[in-house]
Order: sequence, then C-alpha cells, then structure tokens
Amino acid sequence: MEPNWVDVGAAADLQKTPVQQVMIGRTKIALTYLDGRFGAISGVCNHVGGPLGEGRLKGEFVVCAWHYWKFHFATGKGEPGYEEDAVPAYEIKVETGRVWINPEAISKRSRKPHKVHPLAREIKRADGPIRVLGIATTALTVKYPRYSTSDDLLESALGHAKDALGCETQLIRLRELSFRHCEGFYSKSAQACTWPCSITQMDAKDQMEQVYEGVVHWGDVILISTPIRWGGASSLYYKMIERMNCIQNQETIANKTLLRNKVAAFIITGGQDNIQAVAGQLLGFFSEVGCQFPQFPFIAHSRGWSAEDMENNTRYVRNSKMLHDGAAALAGRAVALATVLVQNVKPAGEPVRGGRKAHQLDTRAQLPLAGQEEAREEFGGQN
Ligand code: FES
Repeated sequence: MEPNWVDVGAAADLQKTPVQQVMIGRTKIALTYLDGRFGAISGVCNHVGGPLGEGRLKGEFVVCAWHYWKFHFATGKGEPGYEEDAVPAYEIKVETGRVWINPEAISKRSRKPHKVHPLAREIKRADGPIRVLGIATTALTVKYPRYSTSDDLLESALGHAKDALGCETQLIRLRELSFRHCEGFYSKSAQACTWPCSITQMDAKDQMEQVYEGVVHWGDVILISTPIRWGGASSLYYKMIERMNCIQNQETIANKTLLRNKVAAFIITGGQDNIQAVAGQLLGFFSEVGCQFPQFPFIAHSRGWSAEDMENNTRYVRNSKMLHDGAAALAGRAVALATVLVQNVKPAGEPVRGGRKAHQLDTRAQLPLAGQEEAREEFGGQN
C-alpha cells in the first residue's frame, strides 16, 4: 500500500529547532534535525509517557524532558544497553521544501523489563507492636555533635515509646543522610512526579529512600522534631518535605493513598518565637499526605523574641522535667491513637478525591492538557 505521507511543515522552518513536537492527528511525534538530517520518532516516552518532543538532543539521542531516558533520534532505540527499550520510528522525507512523515510507524514500541524499585512494593503493615519513627530535622555539624533542644526532646519521646509503651522505635537524623533536593519534576507535569520518587529511582546513592521506607512502609507514628529558624521549620525539614510531594501526588495522579492509619505529631523548639506558624506548616503538610493527629498534636518551647541567651535556653531545655514529660506524653497520645487505628480501622476503599484532587475536574474542563490525554490512555494513568 502506498504510504499516506503527511506534510508537517516547511523544511526551512523545521530545521531551526533540533527537537520539536509535531502532531499527526492525535499522534505525537518527536521531530528532530541533526547534521542536515531529519528524524521522526514517537513523542511519547517509554517510561511514564513524558513528551520526547519537548526534550533535547544529546549526540544522536533524544533526551526525554521528564526523567532523561534516551532514544535514538532516527531509529527510536534506547541508548546503548537499553536498545530493546524502543519507541516507534517513522519514515521521513523532504520534498519540494516540505517535510513529510509516513504515519505508519516502521518499528514498534518495545520495553525492556526494568527492575521494580523495592519501595514500589505493596504497602502492608507487618504484625507487631506499634512502631514509632522519629525524624530529627535540625541541621548541625555532623562531625562535631553538640546538644540540640529539639533532638533531646525527640529522644525523650522515643525513649518513652520504647521503654514505657513497648513500641519499636527508629530515629532518623536528616543531617546524617545524603539526599538531593527535589528537582521539581512536579512542575513539569503532575505525571512526572512519580512514586517512588523519580530521584530515588535514578540515583541509588540518594538516601531519602530511608525516610520513604520508614514513613510509608514501617512507622505507625511519625514524630518530627524541628528547631525554629527565622520563624520557620529547619531547612532540612523543608528539603525532606519537598521530596515527599511524590507521596501526596499519588492521590492526584493515581487515586492511591500511600499513608493509611498513620499518626503524626511534632516537637518544635526555638530560641525565638513563631511556634504557631511553624506548627501550622507541619500540620498542613502532614494532613495533606493523609496522616491523623492525636489531640494536642505538638509540644513546643521558645524563649521569646527578646531572648538571645541561647546558652541558658539549652540548659533550660536539658533540665526541664516539664518539657521532657511533655515529650513523653506527646508520644503517649500519638501511640494511643495509632493503637486504635491499627486495631480497629480496616483498610477502606480509596478516599474519594482526597487532598486537592477535587480541583482536577475543574482544570481538566477548563484547559486542554496538550497531548496528555494520549499519554494517559497509553499508560493507563499509571506510573
Ligand atoms: S524519562 Fe521519559 S517519562 Fe520518565
């Protein structure tokens, strides 16, 4: 049968851009121009449907705009070692100054099986006592440890959970982990922010995996401690939180609630004030990822705006029976709620439009999401 060539534009115009997306009907094509030669491959990446036509060229490979998988600009084959991971390629020709593409692909999409990341396993609470995960977020010099008020109270809370309440406990100090900042995949597209986190999947050395493992697969109670720094939580807290967007985003893109029956509670200490604002930030985020809170979900201490005597502050916290008792009581309230949830709450169906999903209907109705419907159909809305 004669090819049904489709005119996609003037060669003189198209050759100005090394990689661009053109549409043939509903089919997205990544059209490339390299060393005097055009190439045409599918515009839908094999990974999770990212737009290859919005990527860039590296040598002879189109680099996906989302997570940087690579496909040969003319054959569609994956980079060396991943040749079986191929996207369809199309015949292309230039005639009478126009670029023509045959919409019948000359090769098929094929996928090389990739190892499933351990974090992607089914989330199933293992039997056993209530498990309390402490996350200390204060930033200190790791090589020269020193006293921290927020660490100290967190350790009191964990000690009480273990010794008095019979819980399993684990402490993660963020400052001891090496992990990358969130690189904003969500800002490219909600679908580009994946579970497990795109960075975790790409970078085996990234230790945020330990936080994901503890929060998603292990802990029943998540106890977070933070200092107040310039009126906010610690910078490491925010670094962790940005990386946890992938947990919340599963609600939005896949109707999946990763945190069920989890309790969060907080310890906030500062030389100066702003406790209520910090608590509001922490509560807001952990409610968005689906956590429950005990009655009175945080304890806090600060010296106040005009107190600069930090030596006295650390001495005060170290010696304050009231604060350490308060930390223990916070752990007690969190563990009590977790016990009720774990024992009595059976896994329900998926929450209906949990978090901010209610907005999705509106935005879909108002804005055509260029080319995304096709990707979603092809990938079944899955990551
Ligand atoms: S690399 Fe293309 S969608 Fe992830």
